[in-house]
Amino acid sequence: MDTREGSRTAVLVCQARAVAHGRLAPDRFADPTASALLEPGELAAVEQARSGVPPEGWGPRMEYEFLRATAEGLAPRTVAVDDAVRERLHPQVVILGAGLDGRAWRMPELAGTAVFEVDHPRSQQDKRRRAAALSPPAGQIAFVPVDFTADRLDDSLDAAGHRTDRPTTWIWEGVVPYLTRAEAAATLQALAKASAPGSRLVVHYQAPSLVASLGRPVARAMRRLSRQPDPMAHEPWRSAWTPAAMRELLTGQGYAVARDTDLLTLAGALAMPVRSRRTLGSGRVLVADR
Ligand SMILES: C[S@@+](CC[C@H](N)C(=O)[O-])C[C@H]1O[C@@H](n2cnc3c(N)ncnc32)[C@H](O)[C@@H]1O
Repeated sequence: MDTREGSRTAVLVCQARAVAHGRLAPDRFADPTASALLEPGELAAVEQARSGVPPEGWGPRMEYEFLRATAEGLAPRTVAVDDAVRERLHPQVVILGAGLDGRAWRMPELAGTAVFEVDHPRSQQDKRRRAAALSPPAGQIAFVPVDFTADRLDDSLDAAGHRTDRPTTWIWEGVVPYLTRAEAAATLQALAKASAPGSRLVVHYQAPSLVASLGRPVARAMRRLSRQPDPMAHEPWRSAWTPAAMRELLTGQGYAVARDTDLLTLAGALAMPVRSRRTLGSGRVLVADR
């Protein structure tokens, strides 16, 4: 990612949660922190998408449709991760590549939990500035700056007070695609080392998809032509995993897969109408225990 500013994909998924809030699966999904974490210019796109009225011009229209489709994926993904966290409430939650995740503020269940937000130093700086607009977090929160491609996750967590003798719930959501296979494997190895028995790992990852691999370069070229900002310009996807390869990776580090479900199925369980079926079909949420 561009290390001069915070992650733009973190802003994009936050915008998507703000679009989904109160509109998609409202009885199961809510994220009131999302709009509070956004800046006025970012909120304008959210309001447009929430209005359901497409803007004029093909560039803005493309952005509108992209945000709408991203929101469709974020509602089931967020619910699946939240459910996995609630199911086994551990004394520690580590959010890897936290971005503008609002869980530490919006989940009252985390009142007795030590939450560690791990992220690239630039993204974290940006998050801390934005989070000043939120009410206090539910429980304890520690910010741990880590670049997964350069820093030691286990040492950084240790220095921040993370305990390896207590079970942890690890949330690794929307980050794996931005790491190479080797970086993802090294991150997993470090977190496994810091996982006491009983720990839980919740991973959101992308399975290989022809539609995504062909669609992303086309979308990039169209954005350039229409002079629209590209949130993925400095954050290209670097790895996709088949469910079998992801399972093998986790099993090798002592985690047993409890479930691994695609976003389309998760959206179906929420009785959510979905237009971007192919996009949702390749995103997956996996829950594993140690
Ligand atoms: C798409 S955002 C997801 C944010 C959050 N997990 C969510 O779902 O809302 C990707 C996140 O991965 C983080 N990330 C990407 N590469 C990273 C790296 N090498 N080291 C640390 N964090 C990284 C970014 O800073 C960003 O916060």
